[in-house]
Amino acid sequence: MTGLSDSFNRPIDYLRLSITDRCNLRCVYCMPAEGIELSDREDVLSFDEIIRLVAAAASMGITKVRITGGEPLVRTGVVDLVGMLATIEGIDDLCLTTNGLLLGQYARELKAAGLRRVNVSLDSLRPERFEAITRWGKLDRVLEGINLAHEVGLVPVKINVVVLRGINDDEIVDFGRKTLEDDWNVRFIELMPFGEQQVGQDRLVTVSEIRERLSPLGPLEACSPVAGGGPARYYRFPGARGTVGFISPVTEHFCFSCNRLRLTATGMLRPCLLQEQEVNLREPLRAGASREELAEMFKNAALCKPEGHKLDQGLVPRKRSMTEVGG
Ligand code: 5AD
Ligand code: SF4
Repeated sequence: MTGLSDSFNRPIDYLRLSITDRCNLRCVYCMPAEGIELSDREDVLSFDEIIRLVAAAASMGITKVRITGGEPLVRTGVVDLVGMLATIEGIDDLCLTTNGLLLGQYARELKAAGLRRVNVSLDSLRPERFEAITRWGKLDRVLEGINLAHEVGLVPVKINVVVLRGINDDEIVDFGRKTLEDDWNVRFIELMPFGEQQVGQDRLVTVSEIRERLSPLGPLEACSPVAGGGPARYYRFPGARGTVGFISPVTEHFCFSCNRLRLTATGMLRPCLLQEQEVNLREPLRAGASREELAEMFKNAALCKPEGHKLDQGLVPRKRSMTEVGG
């Protein structure tokens, strides 16, 4: 194994794998109500194709894979795919990000198939509001899913909260309070600008403001990263069971520690979430490229990683939506 790195000497060992651009919700900051234009089904990689690509990536030093979407649990056969991914040599951390609606149904099987952990996107603890943000999601089902994930050991469960001014920012303290009694690892995320979303950047609440608004719950003590830490920084309120984390893609560059590549459901390898450049792996894959050739393409894509995004210069990826790249 050679180990991947980019031209800024960042080690690249993490692949975010989108397995569908479909979703069973329509969160306001992600999609218009009518949904987005979906990829042609024949362009979506088959399980065998996904496995060939991930095996090539693993041969280059990718050790961690996160399955994303759209909503990954809407893809038929997702449990089988997890089982196949879990047996790829070199992949020692396999996790998944979900909106939680189908988690109750699949948690047990996913764990048995070899999944380690889940992240759940959850932006409100109030049923009507949750329904308004997601346009039809049922909060109860997501909470059941989270409980079941804990029960079967898909832990630590991380809860991703995108904070939106005037929509859910009055729940910052409620989410913080959840970490006192429950083993919840809540991560507050700054709203990133994307082409398809229906809310403007005037909704952005910065991490420094979020921290300030948590102050009534007591001082935040820095703690070691929760497993699979990623770009978040982690803290704990005194005596709390869970943790609080902050992800600030907008106000603080964490690009210097970026260790990831993204693969879309149609086989496009994207070196950076916030830039439009991509490498088509589907074509060579379907033309019969060998594992070595595919591995070489991962290496070249890693070398294309830009040093950082340019959001602060107003450069926003217009043609890119979160449902394609899975966050
Ligand atoms: N800004 C920040 N986070 C976002 N997510 C989706 N769209 C945005 C956005 N515009 C989050 C989801 C999920 C993760 C994959 O990305 O809530 O938790
Ligand atoms: Fe679906 Fe996630 Fe987008 Fe919400 S944020 S619409 S759950 S892909």
